Amino acid sequence: MESLSQRFMQNPLFAQVYEHLWRPTFTRLFSFGGTATEDYDRALQAYLCRPGERLVLDVACGPGNYTRRIADGLTGDGRCIGIDYSAPMLTQAARTNTTEKTGYVRGDAHAMPFADNTFDTVTCLAALYLIPDPLPVLDELARVTKPGGEVIIFTSVVTRVSALPGVREAAGATGYRIFDRHEIVDGLRNAGLDDVEQTITGQGQYVIGVKP
Ligand SMILES: C[S@@+](CC[C@H](N)C(=O)[O-])C[C@H]1O[C@@H](n2cnc3c(N)ncnc32)[C@H](O)[C@@H]1O
Repeated sequence: MESLSQRFMQNPLFAQVYEHLWRPTFTRLFSFGGTATEDYDRALQAYLCRPGERLVLDVACGPGNYTRRIADGLTGDGRCIGIDYSAPMLTQAARTNTTEKTGYVRGDAHAMPFADNTFDTVTCLAALYLIPDPLPVLDELARVTKPGGEVIIFTSVVTRVSALPGVREAAGATGYRIFDRHEIVDGLRNAGLDDVEQTITGQGQYVIGVKP
């Protein structure tokens, strides 16, 4: 059965309000009880948008809000490809976040239609916590990353707030998973990545790893 969160992602109206209403509010909420997730997010965007001729994959791209921003910084033959399984999200991406440097593909993050060692950077932002079986996705992110390339994740993490009795269970009932402190870091290491670094901001974590 689809969770409440999964149903939202398939809703055309939600896809339309996601980028400018839902995501900024959600990012702000993530700061609760810690350092500003918005500040880290801005720094990450600046990093991802730096000029260069890279091939970037934005996994679970939603309406292409990050795909487009990343693509805008790319030069030459650089491209940012967004992949998502929600048709309404991809329709919105095609309508509002398409440029000559973006491309969108409908597919499941568990089995992506890309060859091994293809992308310089693979992002998966604000999505792993919605995926019912998220850990195999980490292997898939690593698989499509080139040697020397990086995987960048933003997702949930358990904190003093979310460890309060009943919070994880209540979140889980909506389809929103709160990861243990080391689950994503260990998952990326097990997927073969090196230099895995975790930064916790409020209720969220950014994890970056490099494929040797
Ligand atoms: C909250 S949106 C995140 C959008 C964007 N990455 C961001 O950071 O704002 C989560 C997206 O994950 C997608 N998604 C969930 N499970 C997926 C899966 N197994 N494969 C591909 N996309 C998936 C949903 O369709 C939705 O568009």
